[in-house]
Amino acid sequence: MATRRFSEKQLVIASHNPGKVREIGDLLAPFGAEVVAAAHLGLAEPEETGSTFVANAKLKALAAARGSGRVALADDSGLCVNGLNGDPGLYSARWAGPSKDFAIAMAKVLRRLAPVDDKSAYFISVLALAWPDGHMETFEGRVTGTIVDPGRGTNGFGYDPIFVPDGHARTFGEFDPADKNAITHRAVAFERLVKACFR
Ligand code: IMP
Repeated sequence: MATRRFSEKQLVIASHNPGKVREIGDLLAPFGAEVVAAAHLGLAEPEETGSTFVANAKLKALAAARGSGRVALADDSGLCVNGLNGDPGLYSARWAGPSKDFAIAMAKVLRRLAPVDDKSAYFISVLALAWPDGHMETFEGRVTGTIVDPGRGTNGFGYDPIFVPDGHARTFGEFDPADKNAITHRAVAFERLVKACFR
């Protein structure tokens, strides 16, 4: 089936994180897309019950598209460590616990990975664009790298201090934010989305 292009004026962002909504709005503004947050429309956040990143991105986008009657965009992302069978993966946010303490989540990764030789990992981002009639387009971006112990750097968020992207010597936590944003899993997924649906 041919890729469906975005030709509406407004796009609903299925995220209740205002920072994320603003960032996506800035990215898509050059293409004439005006973004509105799902929370602003009073839409509830569905539970992330999918067993893959694609399934979770799709269920969030579809719920917002059906609930608003407009095209909606959702994302799902995480860190997958190969030597840990892909953990924390879908549970990347949950490993930090209710206090969202990533020092705890990173310590758990490093503790489990200590006896394992394979330190390779990747960040993944999946974007899902859903129409109210149920049509869906999905895009994936990955950045591969290595987990380092101890972590380094105070920039970024989440697992950034323990991840060194391939081809670089610094962790994402040591990257200048603009330099990190240019090469992330999210940047790759957005580039694919824009190329397919917005240009
Ligand atoms: P969500 O897709 O917003 O639910 O994010 C999932 C989790 O993946 C986040 O809470 C972070 O722990 C982790 N994560 C996603 N992207 C990054 C990144 O660029 N750096 C560090 N951690 C990330």
